[in-house]
Amino acid sequence: MTAMTDPPAPTAMHRSSPLAQLPIEFIGSFPDPLVRLETPLPEIAFLGRSNVGKSSLLNALVGRRKLARVSASPGKTTLLNVFRLPTLYLIDLPGYGYARASHSDRAGFASLIKGVLTRRTTLTGVVWLLDIRHLPSKEDREYGGLLAERGIPLLVALTKSDKLNRGARGERLRELAKALEVPEAQFELTSSSTGLGIAELGESVLAATATEAR
Ligand code: GTP
Ligand code: MG
Repeated sequence: MTAMTDPPAPTAMHRSSPLAQLPIEFIGSFPDPLVRLETPLPEIAFLGRSNVGKSSLLNALVGRRKLARVSASPGKTTLLNVFRLPTLYLIDLPGYGYARASHSDRAGFASLIKGVLTRRTTLTGVVWLLDIRHLPSKEDREYGGLLAERGIPLLVALTKSDKLNRGARGERLRELAKALEVPEAQFELTSSSTGLGIAELGESVLAATATEAR
């Protein structure tokens, strides 16, 4: 006989992303920052230093474990990887600042990323990822400058938030918002491991693209 007890407390405490309910298709990997995608739709690019967790975040957002390749060794994403949802494209960019890449590889990644950020007219918005444990690097600031110059809609995802306790997370968010001169409302505390902030970020991405498609 089973004793009547309270049900166990939920362990999966985070809602899933609205993007996880939608069909998704891998369109391809492209070396050209201005590659034309067949059906014109809003495009959201994922920007951040190597190993910050771009591919992991993208997978968490769309609720597929192995869509974008996650690497133990950084530098695995070297081209624009484009994914299509019914109403938007997600673009996984190579990471910047990978110290062990060759000089020419780094230059190649940088020109690809900069090409997308400064010259890709079809780009709708950017999700910029920053590791919550670190202050912005020199390169983070450079890319931040390009984003500000273009004035493109921006969401900042603080990744790996599971590595800090609750109080420290909020403190770091305020500190980074101030340092980067980006409003706190554009920040999201995220963790691909626990699911923190993933639903919220997915909703913001959808909202950004819905305005565009109006
Ligand atoms: P590149 O493609 O090399 O630029 O890396 P990336 O930015 O795509 O990072 P990726 O998603 O491959 O993750 C890099 C490492 O960080 C992997 O070992 C992940 O498991 C780990 N990681 C990613 N997100 C999180 C997170 O939210 N929490 C924790 N604890 N680890 C994470
Ligand atoms: Mg990657």
